[in-house]
Amino acid sequence: MNCQEVSLRLGKGAQAESQLPSFSFPMQFKPSALARKCETVFFISDRLLAAMKCILTESYGGPEVLQVEEVPVPQVGPNGVLVRIHATSVNPLDWKLRQGLLRPVMDLRFPIILGCDFSGVVEKVGNSVTLFKPGDEVYGFKDGRVGKTYRGTYAEYAVAPEKAVARKPANLSHEEAAAMPVAAVSAWQGLVKYGKIKAGSRVLIHAGAGGVGSFAIQTAKAFGAYVAATASGRNQDLLRELGADLPIDYEQERFEEKISGYDVVLDNVGKSVWGGSLSVLKPGGRLVSLVPPSPKEPAGKLRFFASTGSQVAGWALRGLLTGKFLTLLMVKPQGGELEKLTALVEAGKVKPVIQKVYSLEEIAEAHTVSEQGHVRGKLVLRI
Ligand SMILES: NC(=O)c1ccc[n+]([C@@H]2O[C@H](COP(=O)([O-])OP(=O)(O)OC[C@H]3O[C@@H](n4cnc5c(N)ncnc54)[C@H](OP(=O)(O)O)[C@@H]3O)[C@@H](O)[C@H]2O)c1
Repeated sequence: MNCQEVSLRLGKGAQAESQLPSFSFPMQFKPSALARKCETVFFISDRLLAAMKCILTESYGGPEVLQVEEVPVPQVGPNGVLVRIHATSVNPLDWKLRQGLLRPVMDLRFPIILGCDFSGVVEKVGNSVTLFKPGDEVYGFKDGRVGKTYRGTYAEYAVAPEKAVARKPANLSHEEAAAMPVAAVSAWQGLVKYGKIKAGSRVLIHAGAGGVGSFAIQTAKAFGAYVAATASGRNQDLLRELGADLPIDYEQERFEEKISGYDVVLDNVGKSVWGGSLSVLKPGGRLVSLVPPSPKEPAGKLRFFASTGSQVAGWALRGLLTGKFLTLLMVKPQGGELEKLTALVEAGKVKPVIQKVYSLEEIAEAHTVSEQGHVRGKLVLRI
């Protein structure tokens, strides 16, 4: 394929994507071929698009489908902020999407760029953006869905809506800040927005040593709550360091036999802990779960919704019969909540825990480790 053919295919893609409200990003081509034949700059009509490195995924599959490629830098729309990304992080959502486990709710059109979190520097802003300007150090996360495709943050640049972006904490590096957005905002929304915690609340956090859990323990303590948290034996010290008042070793102890009369349970594990969690709540207490029941293997829409819907309804009813509430949380990007977390970080009350920083080329290894389900804190990707 010569440059003229590439430009024609690219032009077609760019035209289609330019209908999108936030930004345009031509993806209907083989990017590595583009990069090789046109070097790093592409001419389309009278527009000039620079190239960027990213992790491109061409199909559902194992970690081997994650490949370093070059594609054009996305174009910023009126409400968008184009960020030069210095670091991103791995969230379980990334490999669940890659494996096709969420296909019934998100059937993707490939190629895609996975990744939600970013920390970096504003390169350009859309005409309607008022909160940020080029040169600002920012962090945040984006819902990568654009129509049926996905444009995430495993890349040198990404466009995020202004409302999903926040000022980066001054006392964190980009690698530390990139560990925060999805995990810390999930913890915030679970505890503050849905759990309605306050000083003196008794809170149980499942999987306290993981990404969400490590932020949840620190956030609950910052609100003055009494915190019990679960993890395996090897992570009991980490739970204490994060501030947990009552660390529970789920390999040795049954949490439902140790505690009772709690106000809130934040579940980062799944329905295996729902029965016990409802039993430790006092009447009026809230179980907020981030992990809906789903078939272990990729399933069709009908099986997925039948299985998830019936199980959630059953547990919610069981809770209601004893005056307790089950909420399933789907985290939403909110720059405002991230700003509040920035304040907690700058006040020294919240700090990211990072297990390891990987290079972009080591993405397959990072996914493999995350899939095993025993990460301490977060896995970060340096861009
Ligand atoms: N709905 C949403 O919007 C949303 C948002 C964010 C996350 N999530 C979901 O929430 C879950 C947690 O996310 P994450 O980022 O925190 O994952 P993560 O960092 O990969 O969680 C790993 C942690 O889970 C702990 N763990 C594993 N099995 C456990 C068990 N039976 N009891 C207690 N702890 C256990 C591990 O501790 P040990 O090594 O000590 O076992 C490890 O520290 C994932 O399923 C993710 O997809 C959903």
